[in-house]
Amino acid sequence: MPSKREVNSAFKQDVLAGLSMTPKRLSSRYFYDDQGSRLFQEIMTLPEYYLTGCETEIFTEQADAIVDGFLAAGTDIDVVELGAGDGSKTAILLKHLLERDASVKYSPIDISKEAIDELAENFRTKLPQLTIEPYVGDYFAILDSLQKAADRRKIILFLGSNIGNFSADATKEFLASLRAVMNEDDLLFIGFDLQKDPRVIHQAYDDAAGVTARFNLNLLDRINRELGGNFVKENFLHYANYRPIEGSARSYLISRQKQTVEVAGQRFEFDRWEPVFMEISQKYTLPVIENFAREAGFRIAKNFFDSREYYCDSLWRSEPR
Ligand code: AVJ
Repeated sequence: MPSKREVNSAFKQDVLAGLSMTPKRLSSRYFYDDQGSRLFQEIMTLPEYYLTGCETEIFTEQADAIVDGFLAAGTDIDVVELGAGDGSKTAILLKHLLERDASVKYSPIDISKEAIDELAENFRTKLPQLTIEPYVGDYFAILDSLQKAADRRKIILFLGSNIGNFSADATKEFLASLRAVMNEDDLLFIGFDLQKDPRVIHQAYDDAAGVTARFNLNLLDRINRELGGNFVKENFLHYANYRPIEGSARSYLISRQKQTVEVAGQRFEFDRWEPVFMEISQKYTLPVIENFAREAGFRIAKNFFDSREYYCDSLWRSEPR
């Protein structure tokens, strides 16, 4: 595990590099400090943010079939969840696993200590029989420690269309790195938000209550606090769009005026209406999902859809090589 100081200096390097680029960019990977995780939990309850409801519907309505898939190769499993957040959707599946007398160890991984503490507390009351071993940290860093060490079969969960924040190249690289730590009979269960009415997608990233705007702007607070910045949030506005050809929602912070901002002793000039690219949330088609699976050395065991076919949870087996 990298130390707190190393993590902070990666944050600093990325921010300084991103603000030095043309166009400027900041990485959504840094959205999830404790406050950012709280704001994301609030996003999940918004009427416009359909993703959470879709995945909850899939888990609720199809729990038996999903658990059949999980237990097909044996009932002793380590469930590892990357970016677990508050774990509330996963609890539905874990409850069904326990009802089937599976022996389960659950290892939720999240960057926010507060989110992980809350998850652990909730699970202690909700599922007291469950063995849980939480990790606070960046899941890229923790992947290495998952390396073939485990003596039990593992199921890796990567839910919520978290993968949507990666570029196509980063997606391929990430899936290959997951494949590399998986043994035969290990499974990957991964959530993909599908392409749909572009207006529905656009609204999900431009909610009426402005929570998504606060979520994006929170990164400026984090930079101010952790990197000695002097961003004035009121001087930026949140702008989201969806490109139906690429299938990608993107968000930006737009400078409302010409201004200078200092971060870690460096000065950055912003023109009036200059955009800072913040986040990509990719939406998928089935052929694209199949292609990602095949290229990274997986075979799709089964796809699970919600009733509107807005969303797909895909269960992948590692293809022997
Ligand atoms: C957590 C990455 C799946 O991209 O939909 C929600 C984050 N950003 N609203 C997404 C997010 C704006 C979310 N993921």
